[in-house]
Amino acid sequence: YRRLRVALLGAGSVGSQVAALLLKHGDELADRAGAGLELAGIAVRDLDAPRETDLPRELFTTDAETLIMGADIVIELMGGIEPARTYLLQAIGAGADVVTANKALLATHGTEIFEAADQVGAQVYYEAAAAGAIPIIRPLRDSLAGDRVQRIMGIVNGTTNYILDRMDTEGAEFADVLADAQRLGYAEADPTADIEGYDAAQKAAILASLAFHTTVPLDAVHREGITHIDASMIESARKAGFVLKLLAVCERLVGQEGSEESGEAISVRVYPALVPRVHPLASVHGANNAVFVEAEAAGNLMFYGAGAGGVQTASAVLGDVVSAARRHVAGGVGVGESTLANLPVVEIGRV
Ligand code: HSE
Repeated sequence: YRRLRVALLGAGSVGSQVAALLLKHGDELADRAGAGLELAGIAVRDLDAPRETDLPRELFTTDAETLIMGADIVIELMGGIEPARTYLLQAIGAGADVVTANKALLATHGTEIFEAADQVGAQVYYEAAAAGAIPIIRPLRDSLAGDRVQRIMGIVNGTTNYILDRMDTEGAEFADVLADAQRLGYAEADPTADIEGYDAAQKAAILASLAFHTTVPLDAVHREGITHIDASMIESARKAGFVLKLLAVCERLVGQEGSEESGEAISVRVYPALVPRVHPLASVHGANNAVFVEAEAAGNLMFYGAGAGGVQTASAVLGDVVSAARRHVAGGVGVGESTLANLPVVEIGRV
């Protein structure tokens, strides 16, 4: 095998799980990727900060720039705009492919980063940037590229879904459940990003850009949070047959002003919506996310699963790492030998 050097920037709840899984399953991922994946180092701000997983101390460094310069694949899981933006641009400039879960960065500086990558023929992978573990970036960008998406309705923030769900099912108080969401690791470092809808708006901008093959700037996304929702509103909704969910709605509007040529425009908005209890989105509980896609030919599709959480989101990050590694060895095509070929086939008995 050719060996690829993987640099990890950040060892928070997602980063530390990515490192642990890469060390644990490295051989299996290498078989799948067709290339060895060597975790070259983990750049952090504080070498002594507590980590969620037990990782070899010698992997840690505070010198992100040197780590980036020697890497084939750079995984950015620091969050925030700077220095994440500078590091990603450095990595791209140095010829690496990059993997990021940084929705804030992509929603605000996505064009700059994608253009920098285009110029040097690098790839930016970001499956983990929206809806955590749920595969939704590739389906929108690739699988549905031959269709016309009409509308997306997404529950794309785990923290707010967790809060609204517990208020609905247990009559819990907003502040208590927010504290639980923080303790469980769903909430952003500053939970304002969750409860005021900023996190969902960033994800909505990313999903709408992919769904409608355009660039939706973050400031074009209408945003409302859930801080004003109280028990009486939830109760009234229930009595009328609805449940309150913070939805990201990305919609193609036909016959509207906005695009003079085609008479089409796009509306992207995040707000607490009344969802009929019979709609599939009403049964999305806890910190789960779901993205309901309405496409012209495919009809309705729903993507469902864990939208937050370190190890779950690490799954999406590692999928991107394997994709990047395959591209490195095969010039953008081809897959590694499947390890499944070596496994015995077990017969499942009839019942
Ligand atoms: N704080 C985010 C959420 C984490 O609650 O969904 C995943 O982006």
